[in-house]
Amino acid sequence: MLEVRDVTVSFDGAVVLDRVSLAVGDGEVVALLGPSGSGKSTLLRVIAGLVVPASGSVWLDGRNLTGVPTHRRGIGMVFQDEQLFPHRSVADNVGFGLKMQGLPATDRDRRVDGMLDFVGLPGFGHRHVTDLSGGEAKRVALARSLAPSPRALLLDEPLTGLDRELHDRLAVEVSRILRRAKTTALVVTHDGEEAAILADQVVTMDQLRGDPFSIVELTSAETHPLRAAVLRNDTPSRELALDGDDEPTTVHLGVRDGTGRLIGISTWLLRPPPGSEGDGVQLRGMATAPDVRGQGAGDALLDAGIARVRAAQPDAVLWARARDSAVGFYRRHGFEIVEPGFVDETTGIPHHVILLPPR
Ligand SMILES: CC(C)(COP(=O)(O)OP(=O)(O)OC[C@H]1O[C@@H](n2cnc3c(N)ncnc32)[C@H](O)[C@@H]1OP(=O)(O)O)[C@@H](O)C(=O)NCCC(=O)NCCS
Repeated sequence: MLEVRDVTVSFDGAVVLDRVSLAVGDGEVVALLGPSGSGKSTLLRVIAGLVVPASGSVWLDGRNLTGVPTHRRGIGMVFQDEQLFPHRSVADNVGFGLKMQGLPATDRDRRVDGMLDFVGLPGFGHRHVTDLSGGEAKRVALARSLAPSPRALLLDEPLTGLDRELHDRLAVEVSRILRRAKTTALVVTHDGEEAAILADQVVTMDQLRGDPFSIVELTSAETHPLRAAVLRNDTPSRELALDGDDEPTTVHLGVRDGTGRLIGISTWLLRPPPGSEGDGVQLRGMATAPDVRGQGAGDALLDAGIARVRAAQPDAVLWARARDSAVGFYRRHGFEIVEPGFVDETTGIPHHVILLPPR
């Protein structure tokens, strides 16, 4: 199993890969699809050890490869601008990795012949690589990367630069070769049709991006700017501090986006629900920045807060005074209205008391 866990890469301050994760099962061929500039080749280079990620890790068969140099990773590579060694024969090219591994010449020759058969080029060993057609050169490159029996194979746009007919024929062929080799393989391509032919599974770069939000604890003062912008906007009250804000048991939870910007706030304080004496936790001051609505920041924050309350106080009643306009949002998380329709005296906005029943 090849795994990429939560990898982030930036070049000159620009984030190229943002918390990307991916898993390729044993013997599985996965195609990674995305437009140029989406970071797919960078991801391949991280796996190969040619780019060091700012954070995150790469694993192969349960071993953390993050600090392991490229040539010790047991990973084969076929790059788009594949350069065969021009002054050497096909056999020398295919046998190159085996020679590096120190395999004796007779075993090497046998393996090279076997690999050439395998990619449909029997008897090509003595030829010069400069005499090969485009399709033959691609197959030699594939044979060269498969010869040392890599534990995983990375292919970066392996079929570009061929005319359409040859491309389509070779795509079917390469797919067959990869399946017969039973090598765990990751193929990067911008061509959806090619991806579908080559791979068992096609994933897009978009799908690999990790949760862009992080949940953080805040001081009460840090909640004020969003309280002002969202909760006190268009209301008669300008009051930003709420009673109970600074009690030692009160928790302010926020959500930050990938750039670290605070885009959501919430306050959780010990307080029984109206008309009750029992243990309760009130959720107050929940708000997300208007320009991020509908992107999941509210969900992430509410889920994190609920999980935290449940873990600390499984029996506490979780409740809130919710704006009429936000009840739909809370309902999605299981809240129910227990006291409908009153106008909140601070904001003049219709509210309901809502409560999350225990599981
Ligand atoms: C309520 C609020 C916190 C929701 O935050 P958000 O960032 O929009 O929430 P998300 O992006 O996580 O939304 C998650 C889902 O809930 C839906 N949703 C959001 N607000 C909703 C609402 N009022 N009613 C119904 N569904 C809602 C979203 O459409 C999204 O659904 P989808 O994934 O199917 O598209 C935010 O709209 C807000 O700050 N509103 C103004 C202040 C406010 O009302 N706070 C609550 C005071 S009690």
